Amino acid sequence: RRIVMIGGGENAEHDVSLATSAAIAGELRAGGFDVDELIIDRDGTWRHGAEALGSQVAGSLAAALGVIERADVVFPAVHGPSGEDGTLAALCALAHTPMVGSGLRAGALGMDKWATKLAAKAVGIRTAPGRLVTAAEITDVEFEKDVVVKPASAGSSYGVALARDASGLRDALDRAARYDDRILIEDVVAGREIDVAVLREADGRRWASPPLEIHADGLFDTASKYDGSARFTVPADIGGADRTALAEAAVRMFDTLGCAGVARVDFFLTAHGPVLNEVNTMPGMTAQSQVPKMFAAAGLPYRQLVARLVDGATV
Ligand code: DAL
Ligand code: MG
Repeated sequence: RRIVMIGGGENAEHDVSLATSAAIAGELRAGGFDVDELIIDRDGTWRHGAEALGSQVAGSLAAALGVIERADVVFPAVHGPSGEDGTLAALCALAHTPMVGSGLRAGALGMDKWATKLAAKAVGIRTAPGRLVTAAEITDVEFEKDVVVKPASAGSSYGVALARDASGLRDALDRAARYDDRILIEDVVAGREIDVAVLREADGRRWASPPLEIHADGLFDTASKYDGSARFTVPADIGGADRTALAEAAVRMFDTLGCAGVARVDFFLTAHGPVLNEVNTMPGMTAQSQVPKMFAAAGLPYRQLVARLVDGATV
């Protein structure tokens, strides 16, 4: 079958997305699939492998649709805004092309950390207490206690900072406002950083991977995500009750947002159980990323994982 990967993208996670799509493409080719690659450059123009499809965004997109037209399945691997947020899912839906992963609604809800928090709360899953401010309101925010400041929509921790005093808060808000005009201010949660991935099989069955623990030196921030300093333990050393609670909460979030394909659900494990951090509907899938390691620990090697994702593609 002919698979068209889409990588790159117009946001801060461009390089991570390239690495994810290259890794997936490599596994698919090794698994016998015919793989074609579309790349969205930083300026929004599309390429077909090394070949530019045009110098204007709309014209290059039209040419890219010609490549998508010949695909049996599209595998979007663009993290962050204008990709993971449902944009590419919408393109595939309009083109009536089967696609791997979450549709428009789940992508948009998962990309928006505030929407995710409201949805989690509605189904009884705890999140860090927090509030939303607009970029226009940030000058009115006063420092009261240590908080984490995040753009509502971004990934790989771009624009995320811990604020420990008034000037730190100011800097953090200014930085977050460069990524989004809606900003989340959250209490700091003391807990272990645990991820659980959920896979939906072609028959609709969903199951949770073993939990993975992240050991970062300080914050698991953009630098430690990609400089190799973070260490993972998978399966994480977690007792039965917490493990069950994590798996149940991960699947419930997957279903609540209406995810498809694979999603990685990130938690803090506290003394009082799991606290949801976020849901990634197009999680990092480089060879160093959590998701391939988590499914490998469940007995599903990366090559089989990507083949199952293709099998589960939906229109
Ligand atoms: N946003 C990054 C790629 C992740 O969730 O893994
Ligand atoms: Mg993320």
